[in-house]
Amino acid sequence: MQIQDIITLYAPATGEALGSVPALSTQQIDTMMTTATHKWPEWSQTTLETRSNLLKRWSAILRRDAEKIAVLVSKEISKAYADSLKEVIRTADLIDYVADDALRMIGEAYRGDQFPGGSQRKIAFSHYVPLGVVLAISPFNYPINLAAAKIAPALMMGNSVIFKPATQGALSGVALIDALIEAGLPKGLVQLATGRGSVIGDYIVQHPAINMISFTGSVGIGRHISGLAAMIPQVHELGGKDAAIITDLANEKHIISELISGAFGYSGQRCTAIKRIFVLDSLADQLVSSLQAAMPTVTVGLPETNAMVTPLIDTKSADFVQELIDDAINQGATVLFGNTREGNLLSPTLLDNVTPAMRVAWEEPFGPVLPIIRVASIDEAIHLTNESEFGLQASIFGSNIDDIFSIAQKLQVGTVNINGRSERGPDHFPFSGIKNSGMGVQGIRRSLESMSRQQMTVLNIQK
Ligand code: NAP
Ligand code: G3H
Repeated sequence: MQIQDIITLYAPATGEALGSVPALSTQQIDTMMTTATHKWPEWSQTTLETRSNLLKRWSAILRRDAEKIAVLVSKEISKAYADSLKEVIRTADLIDYVADDALRMIGEAYRGDQFPGGSQRKIAFSHYVPLGVVLAISPFNYPINLAAAKIAPALMMGNSVIFKPATQGALSGVALIDALIEAGLPKGLVQLATGRGSVIGDYIVQHPAINMISFTGSVGIGRHISGLAAMIPQVHELGGKDAAIITDLANEKHIISELISGAFGYSGQRCTAIKRIFVLDSLADQLVSSLQAAMPTVTVGLPETNAMVTPLIDTKSADFVQELIDDAINQGATVLFGNTREGNLLSPTLLDNVTPAMRVAWEEPFGPVLPIIRVASIDEAIHLTNESEFGLQASIFGSNIDDIFSIAQKLQVGTVNINGRSERGPDHFPFSGIKNSGMGVQGIRRSLESMSRQQMTVLNIQK
């Protein structure tokens, strides 16, 4: 294979050159696709035990190399080292769980005479078979975990994989696949398709060899892909504008701590980050004052110092967050904390008196800004939560469980968190977004199911 081009990757926080990956040509992608197409039928004939053992060896290598990989992740995507290490260990746990959970997947059996006029001599049963070539496209913010969350179930169900990592995150992707190769991955079963999504993305997603797409990333790219890849099964996990609704402050200390870590963890670069607070007018002054007092606890700095807020992934992202903050200020929002900037490092910013007229009330910043929207009633909070184009998660904080359940039932989101910040894990929980937040469901068992199909076998008894 001839490499056309090279992409050099730099640490967003320091500008240090970290390494490079090939920018593949369409010819090279064609070769990968041919290999992947030929590989999965043979792999699908291996026993579940063989596949599970491969995954267990993979997770063991990730645990062994966790610190080394975490250093790379931390530098490449500017994530606190401690969080990067957690990501690697979480991924090893995820892979182990996938390897075990697939062994427990059981098909179905039917009798013909369960249907009117059906014969009792007809018996059908189903079992899980692979789809073929799975295209796994991951985002920058969890380059190990969200890649393995696709690759592990795909392999376990007997598929081959084309893995397109985010370009900023591709070196971490290489480390992930190196560990899999060391674990004994059959050659060509998983192939790394590096290159800019803007250059090779459309070609890959429309390639006739692809049988399933698992995508995690932004709404814009997700919608674009879903339009291109007609008739191909797809799972999309996209952006969010997760709301936290505060119904009372009985457990104020806990609420403040969840709001702070939920909004500012990894600089707000989580799909599940708390991206707006709805608080009743009657509680707002107290909440605002407590949040403001807690803001200095949000540490800011380089990823190796384990700061909560670190330089954002790139200048374009930092500019976008600043644009949302400026728009809010221009329209009358009050800056309670932050709104300073040094390159891509934005200080954690707390905005009060945000109104629905402001962009930050609706758009996903993917950065360290927390808007507070004061509401006259809980119904208004529910209405504004549901008005969003997103529907990933929401949190409700309070002490009256009847009120909380009643609100939860009215929220149009994939997951409602009660008295806890929005978050995806643990990784075996089904995880999904509605509206522009996604399509289909992830989470270990759901991913195993979406990367396979139930094939029916019908037995016609002759005697
Ligand atoms: P992104 O810009 O949409 O990129 C995601 C992936 O798509 C990258 O691998 C990217 O490659 C690739 N890509 C770009 N254009 C493509 C095309 N035309 N065809 C195929 N692939 C293409 O997202 P991101 O900035 O990495 O991640 C942040 C976004 O992801 C946020 O909106 C966040 O909310 C969302 N997210 C959602 C979840 C969830 O589970 N709901 C989890 C994590 C992140 P390049 O890097 O080469 O452009
Ligand atoms: O960025 C989106 C991730 O799926 C969020 O995962 O809630 O574990 O941080 P997390």
